[in-house]
Amino acid sequence: MRQWLLILGIAVGIVANGQKSVLQGEEHHDWEDNHVLQINRELARAYFIPYGECKGDRMLSLNGEWRFRWTKTPDERIRSFYRVDYDDAHWARLAVPANWEVNGYGTPIYVSAGYPFKIDPPYVTREPKKDWTTYEERNPTGQYRRTFFVPDGWVAITPDGKPSGTVAGNGQTFLRFEGVMSAFYVWVNGHRVGYSQGSMEPSEFNVTPYIKKGENQIAIEVYKYSDGSYLEDQDFWRFGGIHRDVLLYHTPDVRIRDVAVRASMDGVLQINPQFSVYNGETGDGYHLVATLMDGSSIVCCDSVATDEVLDLAHKAARMNEWFPQRGHRKFARMEMHVNHPRLWSVEYPNLYTLLMELKAPDGRTVECVTQQVGFRTIAIKGGQLLINGQPIKIRGVNRHEHDPYTARVMTEERMLQDLRLMKEANINAVRLAHYPNCPRWYELCDSMGMYVMDEADCETHGLRGTLASTPDWGDAFLDRAIRMAERDKNHPSIIFWSLGNESGYGPNQAAMSAWLHEFDPTRPVHYEGAQGDPDPSTVDVISRFYPRVMEEYLNPGIPEGSDKERAENARWERLLEIANRTEDRCTWIGSDGGPRPVLTSEYAHSMGNALGNFKEYWDEINSHPRMLGGFIWDWVDQGIIRDGNVLYGGDFGDKPNLHAFCMNGIVLSDRTLTPKYYEVQAIYGGLSEQEIANKYRETSAAKPKPLKTKAAANSSFFTLHSSLKPQVYRAPTDNDKSFGNWLAKDWKRSGLDTLTIPMTMEQNGNELTFTFDIPDSLPPLPRLGILIELPREYEQLTWYGRGPWDNYPDRKVSCPIGLWKSTVSQQYVHYPRPQDSGNHEDCTYVELRTKKGKRLCIEAVDEPFSFSVLPYSAQYLASKTHDYELVDEGPNTRNSEAKTYLSIDCAVMGLGNSSCGPGVLKRYTIDPSKCHQLKIRISGDSLERISQP
Ligand code: GAL
Repeated sequence: MRQWLLILGIAVGIVANGQKSVLQGEEHHDWEDNHVLQINRELARAYFIPYGECKGDRMLSLNGEWRFRWTKTPDERIRSFYRVDYDDAHWARLAVPANWEVNGYGTPIYVSAGYPFKIDPPYVTREPKKDWTTYEERNPTGQYRRTFFVPDGWVAITPDGKPSGTVAGNGQTFLRFEGVMSAFYVWVNGHRVGYSQGSMEPSEFNVTPYIKKGENQIAIEVYKYSDGSYLEDQDFWRFGGIHRDVLLYHTPDVRIRDVAVRASMDGVLQINPQFSVYNGETGDGYHLVATLMDGSSIVCCDSVATDEVLDLAHKAARMNEWFPQRGHRKFARMEMHVNHPRLWSVEYPNLYTLLMELKAPDGRTVECVTQQVGFRTIAIKGGQLLINGQPIKIRGVNRHEHDPYTARVMTEERMLQDLRLMKEANINAVRLAHYPNCPRWYELCDSMGMYVMDEADCETHGLRGTLASTPDWGDAFLDRAIRMAERDKNHPSIIFWSLGNESGYGPNQAAMSAWLHEFDPTRPVHYEGAQGDPDPSTVDVISRFYPRVMEEYLNPGIPEGSDKERAENARWERLLEIANRTEDRCTWIGSDGGPRPVLTSEYAHSMGNALGNFKEYWDEINSHPRMLGGFIWDWVDQGIIRDGNVLYGGDFGDKPNLHAFCMNGIVLSDRTLTPKYYEVQAIYGGLSEQEIANKYRETSAAKPKPLKTKAAANSSFFTLHSSLKPQVYRAPTDNDKSFGNWLAKDWKRSGLDTLTIPMTMEQNGNELTFTFDIPDSLPPLPRLGILIELPREYEQLTWYGRGPWDNYPDRKVSCPIGLWKSTVSQQYVHYPRPQDSGNHEDCTYVELRTKKGKRLCIEAVDEPFSFSVLPYSAQYLASKTHDYELVDEGPNTRNSEAKTYLSIDCAVMGLGNSSCGPGVLKRYTIDPSKCHQLKIRISGDSLERISQP
């Protein structure tokens, strides 16, 4: 057994690649040593909980309330806390699973990239800047204690209090952690059991020698940061604690340790089981019976002798057969053939159940394992990804495991909600950005039908590619690929392995890829960081982030090809251009040796009011067979909700932080749908305009009906006249503000928010023509039109144009033209950071009414207009940083200062993608060289106004 604490009194010097050794006199920490990845951890294996007669009968959940003590640093921990006689009566209580920071322990920190602690690998507790959160909370440490009662039959009856697990024939007990952030030790009944790190992979320990009949005591010590954190620099909140299930399970002394299953579209089912034996057992006379069930009917079965697989004697002939001297290992210990299996796909997620029964020599079943099986085959041919021989497109989203209340703890309800919403939005694939998810997620993807890109928990963003090329870190990289693939190998939903995210490229990823390819030749390997000319052959798909379409973009002040704004985000690549290069070759065994498919593993950065030119991406993806599709960044805003308020980076005093950059979802933190979601639904669904119109009309009460025409009578627009002015400003969206174009900065510099540009108005009865002259000195304008300020009582809204939700020139596929009704209060979309929203394109009619029946109608003359009507002014929205700061006094307010802001525009700029990616397409910007006119008919209260579609 390993030494636990090593006090080194000697200086050991400097080792390879600039990694510092333990300094003289310093305490050695396993959690700051990249060579100590685990102590006594069991081998990784497929996810299943074995049982006897019925599922769960040999399992004991340790979820629930634990005694808990939290300190900002490891030094403040109580070292003797694991002792059985330690009195924890005065300790607080905390649930398992739970993240600390959303339960009152420590500060949530939102770091995008760059580590929340001082960079000095493998150390995580060196002194950071004084104003950083980790200056105080240097390495938060959580100590957990609880007792549990071992179920009858798990241990033999022994004299009181004596551990009994060593008594032969009584089986084995394992302790399983599905996910702990980031490193931990475990003790049972005062005995040290083991150590593990890696926040998103399971860890198992054999606790048989330490448990006793009756009440047992368990203690866990969790460190928020460890050397493993250097591989966990994902763009997310840094939460500590036990965030997934903890459980115990019991097995016989001959047990099914692991099962690997491959089921292909031709009906071949291959099974490779592994066994373990204890207490002198050899497995002789045992055999495993595998039965494939379709519902309750038996399809086929096969069996294998346990000792043959175990081969404890290491017989040369047997080894030659299964692990030959030359060439690949043999996989299938059992093989069955199913005629015309019902195949698995996302559209038809047909699953069979594989029941595996371990039989003792006397014929008794001693242990059972079940595994869902989906028959399907992945191939790459002619540059396309084929599932069961059919080319597919990835209509994907990236998804973090995030809940606004429980942080990284995923409930069944939340996962089901996410999957149902994804299916409804015609999403067919999810990239597990950027780590293996909790095991239940994959089961749900298998049964509900969702392609999965399973990604290793490996992101070294803050160190770029440094560790990828440091041999000393090779084991740590590989450990993460192996533990992911071993756990998840049997899920039909997984169609790619991914090596991680944003960690440069080097031999350590090459090793991961080689390992995965050999371990599992049935799936292709992905990693966006594997780029070059050509991209390394270790990846089977070409992958890029935030690419451009083949069109001209608005790039004010930034010469084409320049990366001066921000090296890794000013991207110039065009996916279609890559797909058109012919010299590429795929070397994966499942390919035809032709070119690799081209994928965008992150695109359409959906921060705030976004998803511009999503249609153009898909026009291109559909135009070329090699274009595989993409994963939107990303599914859900990572906001934390406290007292009903949505909070983001910096709101907890966390430092460093990247503000609202974690709010990029097509659904809000609480899964409220946004207009972006509907645009995805329409485009991923390939819906026609008519289909969309039918769909939304069902859900909105509005029905198009011709409006009655009446001649214009007298007009009250003159009373409005004084509150009518030109407007060229919008409250900057996250896209207007962020990387790339920096439009918001230019607008500020030019004083656009208060600017009145030259405008002439001609009046002919109640027909008004506004002509705008855009001065050359101005930056690209977000809008061009007039603003009418009305008393807030104008609340009821009817329009003829695009709806029902807001739309912009480059995001309007999901919004058919029709007659829509709404209220002013409902027009604003509550993104976490206030910004422009509520625009409607292609409108010919808008009508506002008060409760008392006062009306204002605006009709297009000649050309349709865009409009928005909000209870906030653009300047007000721009001055606020959080949604909860916005005050809408509502239509019944007596405050005469409260207004309804009606903007009528002859042109509006698109949304683009530049919060992380390319900006607005030129064709969706306002051409400054053109003469712009807005021609409307405006009428007031007494008028019945008309719209002719
Ligand atoms: C990518 C990264 C994501 C996220 C995104 C910006 O570069 O892989 O994790 O940070 O940018 O939201």
